[in-house]
Amino acid sequence: MPSASPLISVMAATAIKAGRALRRDFGEVEALQVSRKGPADFVSNADIKSERLIRKELEKARPGWSFLMEEGGAIEGEAGRPRWIVDPLDGTTNFLHGLPHFAVSIGVEQGGELTAGVIYDPIKDETFWAEKGAGAYLNQRRLRVSARDKLPDALLATGIPFLGSKAKRHDRYLAEMRAAMDNTSGVRRWGAAALDLAYVAAGRVDAYWEAGLSPWDMAAGIVLVKEAGGYVSEIDGSPLRLDSETIFAANDRLFKPVGEMLRGA
Ligand code: IPD
Ligand code: CA
Repeated sequence: MPSASPLISVMAATAIKAGRALRRDFGEVEALQVSRKGPADFVSNADIKSERLIRKELEKARPGWSFLMEEGGAIEGEAGRPRWIVDPLDGTTNFLHGLPHFAVSIGVEQGGELTAGVIYDPIKDETFWAEKGAGAYLNQRRLRVSARDKLPDALLATGIPFLGSKAKRHDRYLAEMRAAMDNTSGVRRWGAAALDLAYVAAGRVDAYWEAGLSPWDMAAGIVLVKEAGGYVSEIDGSPLRLDSETIFAANDRLFKPVGEMLRGA
């Protein structure tokens, strides 16, 4: 990888190892769709296995760092050391239904700031990575957000709220979706927030918005978008925090018009 630091190498090796295990399990899930019991237990087991593997690898490489993980929650390391923010399987619903779009996401927070992120898609064998000040990459290629600057040309990604969503703003969301339907080239719902953010960084979509995410869905992706020249905030324009209720990411040119479109909805 071009100019990948030792830290990024550790993160990428770990994400790839966990992702390949998930890809093997995904083969089983496809077969289990037709069984009476269904794949639910098998999938939650794959998720837990992935998280254990990631924790073991990262602890070995950087002893004493803290963790915030989707399954295991917060694990305190030594004071003053960085923190890993890990989603061992982002896109669980896709995985459960045999839809080949999911990822492993590993972010690093240091002194209250997100400084590195790796998102690995094991089906497409795509490693998205970024480190503060060093740029964003897909495998070996430098990433840059798209250059599109007109709303009618913009392709957006989103997360549609669902039963059990943390965000209770369905009416607001419907208004935002209506505005996107009226003003843009279209909206995609891929089902893995980490990849939605990676796709903004890669210029595959021009903007993305969602509500009700958790820190592990966003941490690595935030670093990717910023290092690729994009912007992130809450939908109302206030600065994004890891505990924010909403997230909005866009290329530099569409950040203002798409933000205004969502807020005006
Ligand atoms: C989910 C995915 C999905 C988003 C959900 C997340 P999970 O994460 O990122 O795209 O809409 O809000 O919870 O549960 O698959 O790790
Ligand atoms: Ca997730």
